[in-house]
Amino acid sequence: MYCQGLFVGFAGIALAAPAPTPTSSDYYSASATNVPVQSAPPVVDVHNVTSHGPFTGTPTTTGALTTTFLASVIPALPPNPAATTYPSDGKLHDPEPAPYTPNGGRDTNGTLPIYKPKSDFDYESLALALYQEWIELDLFNWGLATFSDDDFSASGLGPEDRELIRFMAQQEVGHATLITNILGAEAPVQCTYNYPISTAREFVDFCQRLTRFGESGVYGFLGHLGSGEVATLLLQSITTEARQQMIFRQWSGLFPMPVWFEVGIPQSWAWTLLAPYISSCPANQTRLAWQNFPALYVVNNPNSNRINPNRTGDYETNGNSSSAPATITNVTASENCINATIIGENCGPAISHNRSLPLSFPGRQVFFSWEDAGKPVGPNNSYVTSRAATAPNYVAWVNQLNLTYSALTVTGPNSGYTFQPDVSTFEGDPAFNGTMFVALTSTNEFFSSYNLSMINPNVFAGPALYQAG
Ligand SMILES: *[C@@H]1O[C@H](CO)[C@@H](O)[C@H](O)[C@H]1NC(C)=O
Ligand SMILES: *[C@@H]1O[C@H](CO)[C@@H](O)[C@H](O)[C@H]1NC(C)=O
Ligand SMILES: *[C@@H]1O[C@H](CO)[C@@H](O)[C@H](O)[C@H]1NC(C)=O
Ligand SMILES: *[C@@H]1O[C@H](CO)[C@@H](O)[C@H](O)[C@H]1NC(C)=O
Ligand SMILES: *[C@@H]1O[C@H](CO)[C@@H](O)[C@H](O)[C@H]1NC(C)=O
Ligand SMILES: *[C@@H]1O[C@H](CO)[C@@H](O)[C@H](O)[C@H]1NC(C)=O
Ligand SMILES: *[C@@H]1O[C@H](CO)[C@@H](O)[C@H](O)[C@H]1NC(C)=O
Ligand SMILES: *[C@@H]1O[C@H](CO)[C@@H](O)[C@H](O)[C@H]1NC(C)=O
Ligand SMILES: *[C@@H]1O[C@H](CO)[C@@H](O)[C@H](O)[C@H]1NC(C)=O
Ligand SMILES: *[C@@H]1O[C@H](CO)[C@@H](O)[C@H](O)[C@H]1NC(C)=O
Ligand SMILES: *[C@@H]1O[C@H](CO)[C@@H](O)[C@H](O)[C@H]1NC(C)=O
Ligand SMILES: *[C@@H]1O[C@H](CO)[C@@H](O)[C@H](O)[C@H]1NC(C)=O
Repeated sequence: MYCQGLFVGFAGIALAAPAPTPTSSDYYSASATNVPVQSAPPVVDVHNVTSHGPFTGTPTTTGALTTTFLASVIPALPPNPAATTYPSDGKLHDPEPAPYTPNGGRDTNGTLPIYKPKSDFDYESLALALYQEWIELDLFNWGLATFSDDDFSASGLGPEDRELIRFMAQQEVGHATLITNILGAEAPVQCTYNYPISTAREFVDFCQRLTRFGESGVYGFLGHLGSGEVATLLLQSITTEARQQMIFRQWSGLFPMPVWFEVGIPQSWAWTLLAPYISSCPANQTRLAWQNFPALYVVNNPNSNRINPNRTGDYETNGNSSSAPATITNVTASENCINATIIGENCGPAISHNRSLPLSFPGRQVFFSWEDAGKPVGPNNSYVTSRAATAPNYVAWVNQLNLTYSALTVTGPNSGYTFQPDVSTFEGDPAFNGTMFVALTSTNEFFSSYNLSMINPNVFAGPALYQAG
């Protein structure tokens, strides 16, 4: 029998009583007595969205926010003459403004930082990021509220993992507060949402997809923001989101970071991917100026729940929307990798998995289908998909630092296929891996990371996420 404060060993020898185990409240009360509590700024108004599902009403307003157009496309210009004049030879070329302070940089002359948007571009980019933070907050809470502890356990996730999801939701409260404070009184607020998810495993997979386009959507515009102050704060929130994305990948049994660089995409690409999951927003919600392209589906998007992902059936992943998760319902037990016992086959939650059979490979035949323009999407079905491109001729593959095209073979009015290209970013770094982006375009015009948004007039459908690895 166990006696409090006295441990009797096997030989019947009385041992010294162990010190009582401190509880966490001992730590908190100890620190609270000596340390003055500093007040923190309040967080923005949040509520748990109680209704989910599709929007069924009639929109009271339609289309993206617009004003006068100065031209139909932005013409290409030569580089800024000053862009190539710095000698870049490791020497100092100008007097230092102060000791240990090389000359140059933006806002380095002592000017007071002002954390405000400096243009419509800044405002609209941040408003888009805020729509994204709001859906993440709701999605993480919704997942916790919707799936039982048993559902999570069947996906290999326990109470400590659920606590991490809860904490991630709290991070989104902080991110939403930050951006709301920067934008001011008309900042977009929480909406209601509709998720293509039916199991805890699918929830985790959807989270790694949604956080991928959230993260990449910000990288696409960060360097273009007029306000360096705002860019700095936003980067500090998006690096947190990047960690969330990696954790959701790990919980999906995917290699945590199979790339050397994280990709950036244009705002209209992020909005195209995000809008289908927002069902309605309040009547006076601030609207966005970005484009919604017609949806693109990767018909045989690799199913990460399969031991051999090359056996993925049509629409097994992305069933009814471009970012819908990989299903497990149609994968037979012998082909399901979640409980596989062989190393290289198992895809349960882990820090890393080294899959014997990769999700995709160069030369893989990839099938697509796409929607026509003119479909109502997004909050209250009040945005409408559109495109300027007149024909789908190429598949644009966008990942890491690269944009690469492959020819699209059109097989029907809304279907076609291509073969996955074999491209490396640098030697030893295959460019197409992880959760990446594909779109259909009319031309194979070259763009690099910083001018990728100039591809938009060429986009025929998409983007869609491609689960390359
Ligand atoms: C300091 O730099 C900012 C831009 O970085 C510029 O607008 C401002 O005029 C500069 N101030 C002075 C005193 O040179
Ligand atoms: C929202 O839902 C989450 C998950 O169920 C819960 O942890 C949290 O306390 C809820 N927040 C509010 C404000 O009710
Ligand atoms: C995997 O194993 C867990 C724990 O035994 C079980 O709950 C779950 O249903 C299994 N999942 C699949 C897809 O076989
Ligand atoms: C919407 O209405 C609420 C309540 O009147 C107000 O606080 C908010 O600023 C309004 N939002 C916009 C975008 O006008
Ligand atoms: C997709 O299908 C799921 C499951 O059938 C459903 O819950 C969800 O509303 C659908 N999503 C969309 C965006 O149509
Ligand atoms: C969108 O739908 C919601 C829910 O029906 C409604 O309250 C809101 O006023 C609608 N917004 C607009 C802009 O029509
Ligand atoms: C992948 O599947 C396709 C279609 O079933 C087949 O033709 C191809 O040989 C497979 N490739 C690999 C590497 O398994
Ligand atoms: C899953 O299996 C069911 C029943 O066999 C079938 O009706 C459905 O089309 C399949 N779905 C996918 C996405 O393969
Ligand atoms: C991991 O994968 C690599 C590349 O596919 C392979 O060369 C290596 O043998 C694998 N290592 C283990 C421990 O399975
Ligand atoms: C993606 O990266 C993983 C981990 O390095 C590797 O095993 C896999 O073969 C890669 N897939 C592709 C398509 O290169
Ligand atoms: C991929 O990106 C790297 C780095 O920008 C570049 O050097 C390389 O040429 C690109 N490859 C292709 C095929 O575009
Ligand atoms: C985009 O930038 C690349 C170089 O990074 C250049 O080759 C291309 O012409 C640019 N496109 C436009 C339309 O300016």
